[in-house]
Amino acid sequence: MKIAVFAGDGIGPEVTREAVRVLEALDLPGLVLFEGDVGGIAYKRHGHPLPAETLQIARACDAILFGAVGDPDCDNLERHLRPEQAILGLRKELGLFANLRPAKVFAGLEDASALRPEVASQIDLLIVRELNGDVYFGEKGIRTLPDGRRQGWDMMSYAEDEVRRIAHVAFRAAMGRGKKLCSVDKANVLETSQVWRDVMIEVARDYPEVELSHMYVDNAAMQLVRNPGQFDVVVTGNLFGDILSDQASMCVGSIGLLASASLSDGKMGLYEPIHGSAPDIAGKGLANPMATILSAAMLLRHSLGLEAQAAQIEAAVAKALADGIRGGDLGGSQGTAAIGDAVLERL
Ligand code: IPM
Ligand code: MG
Repeated sequence: MKIAVFAGDGIGPEVTREAVRVLEALDLPGLVLFEGDVGGIAYKRHGHPLPAETLQIARACDAILFGAVGDPDCDNLERHLRPEQAILGLRKELGLFANLRPAKVFAGLEDASALRPEVASQIDLLIVRELNGDVYFGEKGIRTLPDGRRQGWDMMSYAEDEVRRIAHVAFRAAMGRGKKLCSVDKANVLETSQVWRDVMIEVARDYPEVELSHMYVDNAAMQLVRNPGQFDVVVTGNLFGDILSDQASMCVGSIGLLASASLSDGKMGLYEPIHGSAPDIAGKGLANPMATILSAAMLLRHSLGLEAQAAQIEAAVAKALADGIRGGDLGGSQGTAAIGDAVLERL
């Protein structure tokens, strides 16, 4: 069991350290960790946010535990050298097309949500976000129009096979949960979305037990705060999924709690908190490591088939929260290491 650990920038190293402590505490036979540089730190050390040696480590491993990338020092670099290219490059190079972002309110945290407790307590949803296509990976550029104005442009597209494979992931996920799937698009305006919707309807024939619905993304953003309890599995494209998953995190209470898995066709997966590098609090020991610890649990479940150990970690985090352990993100005062300790004790 080889796991690549790419801690990255900002709070990435701090939160990843706690997740590694948790993995090591499980004493899994045959577990070996390999570290690699990604993001701004990789650019500073090797001249590229995703150095060839890092990619090589990734390819040689069964799974990747990823911290965060993003560094304000790098904001003026050419786009292909910016820290974000590390995560985008790994997703593309390793064919990690299916991003699972579960959102559920932990017992005792109903009051932490930006929503009313009785609304928040209903949330138990899974966002399935496509990760290899859409406007993220289309041709793009900045050009000068004949009249001298600058124009930025990014091409949005989805081919039917790209939609079909994420549809199958989402329908299978729905089969394992509440058998409800809501596909989010903007088919009233975008042709990309029309193809998306048509393919979703085609794939639905293979899953007669799943109730498929469609929702425009603007309405979905509204429904997510109005009545999030209506959602079971949500499937959507790369850009809409990026936005809606951040929104879902605040409905749950904190972006410091949401884990994610990015999966390929095989067992290879990348696991990361959905939060970013939070440069404002980096290096201060203030970040909540729970999202990364929960990402390590997803890694055990999805890439290594260790369901019992995954559940053990999730229970330890839930217990810590139920016992009142709170990071600054939840209005508490516990720091990164103290939260790691609290989870370890309960493990
Ligand atoms: C995410 C992040 C990334 C994305 C950035 C860092 C490129 O926001 O994983 O949600 O936009 O996908
Ligand atoms: Mg995002």
